[in-house]
Amino acid sequence: MNLLSLSDWINLLLGAIQVLQDGFLHALAALGLAQTSHGQPAWPFAERLSGDVLLIDRSIARQLLSALGFSFAALLALVIALAWRRGRVVMLLATVALVFFTPWPDRHLLLAPAEPTSFHTSPTGFSAAAIVHGRQVYEQRCASCHAIDGKGDTPLALSLPVSPPNLASGLLWRRADGELFWKIAYGARDRHGAATMPGFTRQLTDNDVWALIDFMKANAAGASIRAIGAWDQPVALPAGAADCGKQATQTGGQRVRVILASAQQSAALPFDDPRLRSVVLADGALKLPAPQAGAPAIDCLSRSKDAWQALSIITGIDSDQLAGTQLLTDRDGWLRARKLPADSNGAWSESDILCRAPAEMAAGKSNKPGGLDSLIAAMDAEPVRFVKGGFVHATP
Ligand code: HEC
Repeated sequence: MNLLSLSDWINLLLGAIQVLQDGFLHALAALGLAQTSHGQPAWPFAERLSGDVLLIDRSIARQLLSALGFSFAALLALVIALAWRRGRVVMLLATVALVFFTPWPDRHLLLAPAEPTSFHTSPTGFSAAAIVHGRQVYEQRCASCHAIDGKGDTPLALSLPVSPPNLASGLLWRRADGELFWKIAYGARDRHGAATMPGFTRQLTDNDVWALIDFMKANAAGASIRAIGAWDQPVALPAGAADCGKQATQTGGQRVRVILASAQQSAALPFDDPRLRSVVLADGALKLPAPQAGAPAIDCLSRSKDAWQALSIITGIDSDQLAGTQLLTDRDGWLRARKLPADSNGAWSESDILCRAPAEMAAGKSNKPGGLDSLIAAMDAEPVRFVKGGFVHATP
């Protein structure tokens, strides 16, 4: 029986590649041996290990796994050789043979160009405020080429020798955030060294650039909903979107339901539900209805304008059409399901899930009835396992 599928192994490898390099960089920094770039330890090499190719070509993944298996066997043989005197010669020969015949994939396949900021992490926490700020900066500096929607088909873009890529696609998730940062700060060049995209390090602060990355991801999420009716990449509930004054962000580990409501809807607000933490995100002068006997009233009310705007971008719904929409996160904070205003009184069902494993998406939306319990069960059965550039969900 196969305990782990090839996908699991690839995920493990991708995770290990990330953790090893990250750990190495932080160890360097702790020893005072790393330089600093844009406020974080700088990656010292021109290349880094990259698992991207493993996702594209599974035969290379198999080859790398068997090479690691060979290396492990070689190590084992060496240990035995040291411990077992009478078998030493045989075991040493076995070690040498194993090392010699290890089928390593071509080194170049596993290396990618790196920047000093390759392993930087964004300080914004994907917050609603950053997304909204990012949109302003984007409209000012980037939309002329990349278009407001990120598709990059403006007249200016079409006149460039190299066309801008479609930013409203999975592209941003295939890149390390730190490498996106570097591109935006210092621009891009073609093979001959000619600039294809200008750099913005003089006009923009580091915070502006991190905010741009958040906005572009939120925008790509909204574009995905408009195009295929689902989030093809995982997107988190923005930080700050579920804050309610005193009870700020106690969302850790809880499923959160965000109810977007305008003043007209105060009468139609759903009741609190013990299975979820309900947050009413109010537009305008909405008042919460008085608690009713028998049903716990919702007690978390946020009026964050940034959260409203950010969720409008992520759901691809205009902000004046958003009232009445409900969103659901899983326990890890990923946005997973949505209910539209037309349907806001209906019960939740599995068909409201918008973020699924590729196989489930391909099979089309299931129309199984079953209410919130089956929705939660489906969400929990299929957690988002996010590895940079890796699998979005548990793939079969
Ligand atoms: C003058 C036109 C122009 C402007 C302005 C511009 N870009 Fe670009 N952008 C490009 C082109 C062209 C490319 C493709 C570059 C290449 O592949 O060599 C690109 C590529 C990118 C990429 C993809 C990088 C990758 O890793 O593949 C990102 C992200 C990006 N731009 C973000 C931005 C942001 C954010 C701004 C605003 C701060 C911006 N761009 C402003 C033209 C532009």
